Amino acid sequence: MYKISGISLISLALALNSCGGTSTENNQTTDSTATDSVIVTEDAHSYSNVSDVYSTHLHLNLNVDFDRKVLAGNVIHEIVNVNGVSEIIFDMNDVNILKVTLDEDTAGVQFKIGEDDELLGSPLTVQIKPETKKVVIWYESDPSSNSLQWLNPQQTAGKKLPYLYTQGQAVLTRTWIPCQDTPLKRITYSADITTPKNLMAVMSANNPQEKNPEGKYHFDMPQAIPTYLIALAVGDLSFSELGARTGVYTEPSMMDKCVYEFADVEKMVEAAEELYGEYKWGRYDIIVLPPSFPFGGMENPKLTFATPTILSGDRSLVSLIAHELAHSWSGNLVTNATWDDFWLNEGFTVYIENRIMEKLYGKEHADMLLSIENQELEDENHDLSSSGNGEDTHLKLDLDGRDPDEGMTTIAYVKGCLFLKTLEAAAGREKFDPFLKSYFETHQFQPVTTEMFVEFLNTNLLEPNKIEFNTDEWIYGEGIPDNCIKIESDRFDKVSEKAALVTSITSAKELEIKRTDWSTQEWMHFIRHIPAEADAAKMEMLDNEFQFGTCGNSEIMAEWYLISIQKGYDKINGPMEDFLINVGRRKFLQPLYEELAKTEDGLVLAKKIYAKARPNYHSVSSGTIDEILGWQE
Ligand code: BES
Ligand code: ZN
Repeated sequence: MYKISGISLISLALALNSCGGTSTENNQTTDSTATDSVIVTEDAHSYSNVSDVYSTHLHLNLNVDFDRKVLAGNVIHEIVNVNGVSEIIFDMNDVNILKVTLDEDTAGVQFKIGEDDELLGSPLTVQIKPETKKVVIWYESDPSSNSLQWLNPQQTAGKKLPYLYTQGQAVLTRTWIPCQDTPLKRITYSADITTPKNLMAVMSANNPQEKNPEGKYHFDMPQAIPTYLIALAVGDLSFSELGARTGVYTEPSMMDKCVYEFADVEKMVEAAEELYGEYKWGRYDIIVLPPSFPFGGMENPKLTFATPTILSGDRSLVSLIAHELAHSWSGNLVTNATWDDFWLNEGFTVYIENRIMEKLYGKEHADMLLSIENQELEDENHDLSSSGNGEDTHLKLDLDGRDPDEGMTTIAYVKGCLFLKTLEAAAGREKFDPFLKSYFETHQFQPVTTEMFVEFLNTNLLEPNKIEFNTDEWIYGEGIPDNCIKIESDRFDKVSEKAALVTSITSAKELEIKRTDWSTQEWMHFIRHIPAEADAAKMEMLDNEFQFGTCGNSEIMAEWYLISIQKGYDKINGPMEDFLINVGRRKFLQPLYEELAKTEDGLVLAKKIYAKARPNYHSVSSGTIDEILGWQE
């Protein structure tokens, strides 16, 4: 069913030769330079024929039409036809193509739209000449585009003006831009975006800091990026500086909270640079979106997209910013060649995130963060193995014929990170840090396969230092290898002791703990370790003392609702319903709906809530919840 035509050759020569080869150019993956050894890699999630002809720059001319919920205009692709072929194939999904023209010629040329696949869309094949330099595609996005979320004023903080944002990763950019939508290739881009007056547009590019009275915005993205990182947001935005090269965009009423929360962002950039070399993207800004945003964060270059659920008021959830910032090296600078190599993006990023957190806030805090994630890994690893999905516990995946989203598990994130932590322990930081730095330098602005990383690891770390390491077991084997480093936290051990007391006490005062004594992470650990025997009455006792269910900290509330459902503590249903209606972050929604759906009464409640909540969710989240609840539109 999934026809593969996105085949590309990646030069391994570059990877092998050079620990020291520092090129500051934005190198394209050049097929023609692949002389020595060559890896042939295919992207099962793209129809594009990038090994024959590929786009190096795209320019967007788009009008943002909130009434019709469409983006309308054209995209101009500048192409390089390495093999002199007579057709170029783009990816598109639910996009209405009006015409296609070549170079300066205004007469339309022939194009063909292939069979539609629900996930991957269709190949758009355009007849070209060997000398064709530009392909112009005139189109409109569809109101049902899976990338775009069109919010009405009621769904925003200000309640007065509409809002639009895009989500590209993994295969959604093609639902608003016909393009060769594969991480195997990189493009620069530019854009002219017209919005209604009173709104500001921002992109993963050089951004304005003020509204334009005519609603006309020009963007340039001079660094080459994979297409999944092209992003746009339009709304009633204001901007505030955080540091010399960092800042935040959000709706005016959210600004003070954001500026407070992100006080340390400039320091995070400096910490990451000390470890892994220069930040290559100019500015690092953050946009805090409306609560429907389906992810915690998305690492769109120059402009991280973030959920407002990290605004805890006490800066305790900022590791998410460290994570998205870390992608400026792992993911955006050095990119997974295909979605099977997704762990190269996320595992490295979780590792770097933790290093940044350690540098800023100390090892004790960093260990607690990792321990929280490690618990999630242990649970998911167990679930996958015991449900016959052991192959999904490999770092290197085989997602051919599947949604790349299915690779978004704690395996890629946390097992990936623990692999690097274990390597770090074997080699010592004094060797491991320069090794990682040189990995980024050597492969900057390039796609990398898992096999290329292994080769680089052997040549530059393991062999020169005579380190024996079970790399293959980690990457191609199931579960967590025995040599995995242990994540320990004394602070968490003390919290576990308190949690164990819950069954025997009759008043929460007996715990001798105030709400302000512990960090967010300690409270999360506490809630997770409330004993199985504790009943709904004990939950009420704790809630009366600590107000977990209404505390305003999204991570604590989500943990609390989950075990409240398990224990039948239904006094929480009101606040939980508000949370599910307002927040669209899939990481929170999915476990709660899954837990509700386990009982008959729970399922009834879940469906009642979902009927109200669904219009607030982005397609990424509603797609997942539709499946859990067996929901038919
Ligand atoms: N790049 C991911 C989000 C993503 C992954 C979107 C795959 C689509 C497909 C982002 O960097 C991420 O990992 N976000 C996490 C944050 C985190 C682990 C701190 C999230 O949204 O929960
Ligand atoms: Zn990430």
